[in-house]
Amino acid sequence: MKHIISCEQFDRDYLEGLFQLADDMMQTPEKYSESLKGKVIATMFFEPSTRTRLSFEAAILRLGAKNISTENAREASSATKGESLEDTIRVLSGYTDGIVMRHFDKDAAIRAAAVSSVPIFNAGSGSGAHPTQALLDMYTIHKCQKPFDHLTVAVVGDLLFGRTVHSLIKLLSVYEHVIIYGLSSPNFALPKEYVDYLHLHKATYIPCTSFEELPGNIDVIYNTRTQLERFTESDLAPREFIVNKKVMSHFSDETILLHPLPRNAEIDTDVDDDPRALYFQQAHNGMWVRMALLYDTIRNC
Ligand code: NCD
Repeated sequence: MKHIISCEQFDRDYLEGLFQLADDMMQTPEKYSESLKGKVIATMFFEPSTRTRLSFEAAILRLGAKNISTENAREASSATKGESLEDTIRVLSGYTDGIVMRHFDKDAAIRAAAVSSVPIFNAGSGSGAHPTQALLDMYTIHKCQKPFDHLTVAVVGDLLFGRTVHSLIKLLSVYEHVIIYGLSSPNFALPKEYVDYLHLHKATYIPCTSFEELPGNIDVIYNTRTQLERFTESDLAPREFIVNKKVMSHFSDETILLHPLPRNAEIDTDVDDDPRALYFQQAHNGMWVRMALLYDTIRNC
């Protein structure tokens, strides 16, 4: 049985097939509207979420499946009574055909998959991974007709705790001659394990400290918010890299601006009307990618 745990599990063929399926679902949704009829899929979130949970739930309903959900599992599930994650998953997998889970522990998805009899979909695990976000980020790049080989991408902001960046980096590494620029404060730099991962997969990684250091014709700028919930010491507070109209004027018409959302101050709302600002489109794409992922995984398990 296949679980969706981490971006290391995907290869070019899988990604191409998934994106084709998402395209087809977007064009002809009625073809799939009963494709998971009779299935029950749980969404269990131990951390806050807007887009991930609701786009998964919309995807479940659009495929004709039913959804059971706990949106605040950290407080509203038997976890408060001391139940282990493993026991919760063992029980839930007897009720359902798939479990979409977000958790604060980096290893939660691996732990859940180890005991689950139904597919686990990792909807974010601590500061570690957020594979379905990376899939929709790549899908958005694909929708802009940008080939993945030779892609140039700047990841910006909290590279230390940002799980979306950690997953995106792994997905980009699937392709050839990718160049990634890391724009962050020194104390929020990309952890060594991800830099090593990029080198191992022959991607180029270039740390930098200002937007001016990025090439004007870069393909993608991927900004992120500071993950305030993952640290407490105020002296860690990073410098913000704010994208405003002036920053955007440094980049070509072909450069696209992405953000997993929610944003704080790191993208000025003045930029929202710029045709290169695709973060709301990106969030919409998430539902189609998650539909494709649920359909493919649950039908083939
Ligand atoms: C991200 C997350 O939860 O990691 N949000 C999302 O799923 N779109 C990014 C974030 O919270 O900063």
